[in-house]
Amino acid sequence: MTTTSVLESCIPLPIDKGTLLEVTEKAKDWAIMHGIAMRSKTNFSPDALNFAPFILIPSSFPRKEFESAVNLQTVINQLMHSVAHDEEFLTTTLAETIKVDDFTANLFNVYKKVLANGFGQRISLGLLRSDVMLETKCKNNPRAYSSWKQVEVNTIASGFGHLGPASKAVQSFVMRELGHADKIKNMPDNNALSGICDGMIKSWELYGNPGAVILFIVEVITYNICDQRFHEFYIRDQCPKVQVLRRTLTQVFKEGKLGSNKELLLGEHEVAVIYFRAGYEPAHYPSQDEWDARYMMECSRAIKCPSIHYHLAGTKKVQQALAQPAMLERFLNDPEQVKTVKEIFTGLYALDDTEAGNAAYEMALQEPERFVLKPQREGGGNNIYGVDIPDALRKMNRVERAAWILMDLIQPPISKGYMIRPDNKYAPELVDLVSELGIFGVIIGDVDNIICNYQAGHMLRTKLSTANEGGVAAGLGALDSPYLLD
Ligand SMILES: Nc1ncnc2c1ncn2[C@@H]1O[C@H](COP(=O)(O)OP(=O)(O)O)[C@@H](O)[C@H]1O
Ligand SMILES: [Mg+2]
Repeated sequence: MTTTSVLESCIPLPIDKGTLLEVTEKAKDWAIMHGIAMRSKTNFSPDALNFAPFILIPSSFPRKEFESAVNLQTVINQLMHSVAHDEEFLTTTLAETIKVDDFTANLFNVYKKVLANGFGQRISLGLLRSDVMLETKCKNNPRAYSSWKQVEVNTIASGFGHLGPASKAVQSFVMRELGHADKIKNMPDNNALSGICDGMIKSWELYGNPGAVILFIVEVITYNICDQRFHEFYIRDQCPKVQVLRRTLTQVFKEGKLGSNKELLLGEHEVAVIYFRAGYEPAHYPSQDEWDARYMMECSRAIKCPSIHYHLAGTKKVQQALAQPAMLERFLNDPEQVKTVKEIFTGLYALDDTEAGNAAYEMALQEPERFVLKPQREGGGNNIYGVDIPDALRKMNRVERAAWILMDLIQPPISKGYMIRPDNKYAPELVDLVSELGIFGVIIGDVDNIICNYQAGHMLRTKLSTANEGGVAAGLGALDSPYLLD
């Protein structure tokens, strides 16, 4: 990336080496002891945890931009809710994509079958995370950034409800240790975990069977276990009656069935709410069994997070379609809201075999460094960046390109900081970092009614300025939290 603007840091840097080593050792232990941890991929044991990579001190983020992202979240929630319930829009938007992308086609197929057979449950639970980055590209701007832009909206498995607030906790500890307790007031409160879990509890209440459970759909091995378990523990703590079960899609296929009223039954348990922390990538469906399980759950009376239409609303193709002229007006009535949401989109381009799609293809070949190429996938590691784009595009035929979208590369400002990772035996170095802010939103409702809609905390992920992607579980990113600059 060619980012050059630098955000001022919250404390004078560098930190002298002796202090740095001492506070790093302490902070690592503090992290493990407070559940800021993951299972190791390189040295896996189900019985052991490593601390999750984190940035030692909070990264600066302009207060005004932070607040505007927070304030917009209920509008994003409402937008995604409307999109999810617009059958015609989803069908037209995904029509070309599903011809060439099997995974999206499978999801769409579940959607079509449920539409044909009738939804067992009208209410959906949306636990969304809108990911944004500051943008510096605007020329002649005296500030280090000019605005923020949306990277994507996640409608499935929006993680870090625990690790988001926990990042603030470990960094507050470090700030205090370094003698900067007075600055903690500039680190915004973060109620992500309670906000998200309260959405699940509310849905459980709406379901209306005090004996029913909440089901987490999980992978065979969960590396990001603390994040998930803290959701479970919070729920049990707030509502001792509510049991949380964890099952893979394969287990649901084997153990699950529908009752006479379309109740989802797992052994003797009736399921009130299904929270998908897996099911967003092809590997989670090793056979038709898992797709059958997904379909059975979609047909059931359980309230899904997400329901299949919400899942489809979160595809990159839908995001690209929403950025087209006059599209937002279909979903939002207030012209001011339309204008504000439009401003957060960066350039998004279809690559299907149309005049516009072919023009975007040519543009990507000419100036690839301006873009990122994205397939309909979640979970990190799937995108193609800059100079790698032409080769990738040339390998596809015109029809296959419809599985992808093209997006302007956002260029966030740099901040300086220390990234602390497990197994790093040396003193951390002061490095150039860039951050991505995620704002959580909770929305519950059906096609006619929104029962609740609120913003629920945030998370910040930070990576080396030279890295393309910054997933924390995926390996390159680190937990962080914002320090608000006035
Ligand atoms: N337009 C963009 N500009 C800069 N970085 C981007 C852009 N789009 C994605 N990224 C980087 O790639 C990561 C993954 O992309 P994303 O669209 O969020 O896909 P995924 O669904 O795999 O998370 C982001 O977290 C961000 O670090
Ligand atoms: Mg993402």
